[in-house]
Amino acid sequence: MPLSTGFLRRPAAGFALLATALAAWAAGDWYWSFPREALHQARYVGRQSCIACHQIAAAAWAGSDHDRAMEVASDDTVLGDFNNAQFSRFDERTRFFRAGEKFMVNAEGPDGQYRDYEIKYTFGIWPLQQYMVELPGGRLQVLRVSWDVEKKEWFYVAPADAQDARIAAGDPLHWTGLAQNWNTMCAECHTTDYRKNYDLATNS
Ligand code: HEC
Ligand code: HEC
Repeated sequence: MPLSTGFLRRPAAGFALLATALAAWAAGDWYWSFPREALHQARYVGRQSCIACHQIAAAAWAGSDHDRAMEVASDDTVLGDFNNAQFSRFDERTRFFRAGEKFMVNAEGPDGQYRDYEIKYTFGIWPLQQYMVELPGGRLQVLRVSWDVEKKEWFYVAPADAQDARIAAGDPLHWTGLAQNWNTMCAECHTTDYRKNYDLATNS
């Protein structure tokens, strides 16, 4: 290598080394000076502890997708058509209706028998809204038949790897199965301060 080229390269390499060392030192300093105690004691405080000082952020959040991520099913929260609306896919039938104040669905249960289930919660507001039914053992199950908020119609959220298949009762992919279980499949990302409280002995 000609002497002149090596001479020109060295300062650049030296600078890169120095910058790397500085970045490593800064990262290490931040990491080691982090208040461990505070992290261990960190707990959920709720939005009320923030709103007094952060009113603009709180106002922007109100009514947003995050605010409305999961709500108790009611006239104020349900977007789907529950006026005796029918939805069919292969030989699986789903019917959405009202029983007084309650939002109901007649759907294929875990054993293949059709039953009436009460909708407990809504999930999301756009571009789709999903609906949850509570099964024994505290299992919240998300119906695959969901509401398309833009087209205003029911549609089926098919599993990615079984787009054109009839999902039979008893299959883990069925709406009553593990894949559609909120407790294990959705809550971790969709719920703040989530406590699973799973009991292995009673599987509940
Ligand atoms: C006593 C008043 C007060 C309370 C209570 C408070 N904050 Fe703040 N927060 C501030 C101030 C002041 C700043 C700095 C604002 C700035 O630099 O513009 C700030 C900054 C922030 C930022 C950074 C914002 C940005 O744009 O970089 C976040 C995120 C934040 N607060 C979240 C929270 C959360 C979450 C809570 C509740 C757990 C909370 N704050 C409670 C006063 C408060
Ligand atoms: C790994 C994290 C994660 C898991 C697990 C997860 N989600 Fe989500 N979900 C997200 C994120 C992030 C968004 C927002 C994505 C976007 O807007 O593109 C979202 C958006 C949604 C929305 C649209 C909500 C709205 O109004 O904006 C619905 C409905 C939804 N998820 C349902 C579910 C269901 C049902 C499950 C469980 C079967 C689930 N999600 C599991 C992260 C997750």
